[in-house]
Amino acid sequence: MTAPVGGNGSGERVFIRLGPPPEEPNQFVVEGAPQSYSPEVRARLEVDAKEIISRYPDKRSALLPLLHLVQAEDSYLTPAGLEFCGEQIGLTGAEVSAVGSFYTMYRRGPTGDYLVGVCTNTLCAVMGGDAVFGSLKEHLGIGNDETTADGSVTLQHIECNAACDFAPVVMVNWEFYDNQTPESARELVDSLRDGKPKAPTRGAPLCKFRETSRILAGLPDERPDEGQGGAGAATLAGLQVAKEKGMEPPPAPGGKS
Ligand code: FES
Repeated sequence: MTAPVGGNGSGERVFIRLGPPPEEPNQFVVEGAPQSYSPEVRARLEVDAKEIISRYPDKRSALLPLLHLVQAEDSYLTPAGLEFCGEQIGLTGAEVSAVGSFYTMYRRGPTGDYLVGVCTNTLCAVMGGDAVFGSLKEHLGIGNDETTADGSVTLQHIECNAACDFAPVVMVNWEFYDNQTPESARELVDSLRDGKPKAPTRGAPLCKFRETSRILAGLPDERPDEGQGGAGAATLAGLQVAKEKGMEPPPAPGGKS
């Protein structure tokens, strides 16, 4: 679908495209997707859903973590998962689908054990992100949003992940791998496929996509926390220079600091 946005000065009308990018599937229903859960699966999920919903004063507010919960079950949003979420919090299928289709962290097709996202936004692209993505496509023999035949890796180009000072950045199941090159990225995906994942540059040890989805749903994260997260040296470089030069922020309006 396109929509006119005005003239270009030469009397011609200019059109912009509306709707999802053409490379992304715009339907949740894919062939073979579960349409409903068995009583056993439903009973298990209801225990987790109850805990998640109890954290919110209004149960509708639990929709985002519930979507991660069903994504942990299926590796993507399925009709069964969408229906389950709606039933738990009293939303219609249309309301659940509208939210689920808005956020790119919710997947619309089966996802491998490791979702490898290569940032190809402006800064990462000029620092080599496009070359990294091209190299991985060739190395894995798959295109954007496709999964290797062994089900281990789904490749995806992603937008800025707010780690531009470590460009080009690759994320695996939303953990950072900074300052990548085509060579290091190929070694990274090889380690995933060999079952010996390289450790992220920052953040907690890597886990598989479905486990990551459960953590994002707010369920317990058993990974060791040794303070791996937080800002890295590149992020803090400006602050360091400011300290060395004795720079102070200007006083806040009204004299408050
Ligand atoms: S442009 Fe890649 S993290 Fe910002």
